[in-house]
Amino acid sequence: MIRPIVAGNWKMHKDRVEAAALIDGILAATDLPTDVGMVVAPAHPFLVDAVQRTNGTRLQVAAQNVHATPQGAFTGEVSVGMLKSVGVQYCIVGHSERRQYFNETDAEVGKKIVALLAAGITPIYCCGERKEERLAERHFEVVAAQMHDALTGMPEADLRRIVVAYEPVWAIGTGLNATAQQAQDMHAHIRTLLAGHGEGIATTVPILYGGSCKPENATELFTCPDVNGGLIGGAALDAKSFTELVRIAGKVARRTVA
Ligand code: PGA
Repeated sequence: MIRPIVAGNWKMHKDRVEAAALIDGILAATDLPTDVGMVVAPAHPFLVDAVQRTNGTRLQVAAQNVHATPQGAFTGEVSVGMLKSVGVQYCIVGHSERRQYFNETDAEVGKKIVALLAAGITPIYCCGERKEERLAERHFEVVAAQMHDALTGMPEADLRRIVVAYEPVWAIGTGLNATAQQAQDMHAHIRTLLAGHGEGIATTVPILYGGSCKPENATELFTCPDVNGGLIGGAALDAKSFTELVRIAGKVARRTVA
């Protein structure tokens, strides 16, 4: 049984005061299931605050991006060592917005994953097809290529420590989520691809769903056997809906065990 994770990707939202208030709002919920991982990903300037505020709690902190090079002349970038030095536990990599607006390639994302793992930070690796690729029925092939190009060559022991997030690009921020069937089919595909790197990987790596996931559709999505929680954008910007998603992930996991 893979422990589900609900991770909030705050993107370029929230200033310092708002970020602190959102964390406090999540921490104020005392009835959250203990068998669900909880992660928030504020913008870089607030990571130090977030790590301090969540210290000693179950809420963990992710960065939204990182540069693979240890240090150097890369104006505006942040290194893995910098994230490590502030106590960040996770880092989102390969988000479709990074691929689309900043031309990130799978090869670059692969280097980030290697650097993060070496530092003991868990990468949340995002993959997913664009609308035209889904319409052309190339979605399985596209995700297979992304997984191959970013993960090939990594030792099995390292790959066991990653988190994968399937985020169909057409579902991100559009209000149009994948159906439970579409999500399950792709998650099962990703699990098979992971198994190709070593049998143990497929049974340990959480695969999160992302793309317009919210309390109204989360039960259906999280109930899919190969969906282990979600990477949440819009619905993670509010403590009430984020904590509700955590409760739903806990309920679904307990129902599956029973
Ligand atoms: P969304 O974003 O939940 O707002 O669709 C998800 C993501 O981009 O991680």
